[in-house]
Amino acid sequence: TERTLILIKPDAVARGLTGEVLRRLEAKGYRITALQQLQASTEQLAAHYAEHEGKPFYQPLVDFMLSGPVVAAIAEGDRVIEGFRSLAGSTEPTTAAPGTIRGDLGRDWGEKVQKNLVHGSDSPESAEHEIGIWFG
Ligand code: GTP
Ligand code: MG
Repeated sequence: TERTLILIKPDAVARGLTGEVLRRLEAKGYRITALQQLQASTEQLAAHYAEHEGKPFYQPLVDFMLSGPVVAAIAEGDRVIEGFRSLAGSTEPTTAAPGTIRGDLGRDWGEKVQKNLVHGSDSPESAEHEIGIWFG
C-alpha cells in the first residue's frame, strides 16, 4: 500500500467543494486516514512549495494558499499517489480533461495564480515530506 498528502485548496473550500473532492477520492476506493481543516501558515507553505521558490508564480501561489482555510488529508491505497493525480487532472484547470476534478470543477478566473482546487503529492518521498508538514 501507499499513502499521499492531499490539499483541498482555498478556492475549493470556499466554493463548497470539499465533500465533492472527498467523494471522488473515496468512490475510487481510497481510504481517508486523516482529515483536518486549517488555516495554512507561511512556514508550512514555504516548506510545501520550496521547489517553486523564485518562480514568477511563487508569491501569488503562497498568497492564494493563505487566502482562506485549506483541508489537508492523508489517503491510502495501492498506487494512490498516481491515482489521485489522475483524478485531479493536469495543472491548468481550463484545459484539464473533463472527468477530472480540475477539468469538471475548475476554470481560469483571470488571475495570476492557477486556482486549481487540489494538490496531491507527486512521489513517495514528497508524500512523506508533505505529511510531516501538514500533520506534524
Ligand atoms: P500541485 O498538486 O498543486 O502541486 O499541482 P501540480 O503538481 O499540478 O503543479 P506544480 O507542482 O507544478 O505547481 C504547483 C502549483 O503552482 C500549481 O498547482 C499551480 O497552482 C501553480 N502553478 C504551477 N505552474 C504554474 C504556472 O506556470 N503559472 C501559474 N500562474 N501558476 C502555476
Ligand atoms: Mg506539484
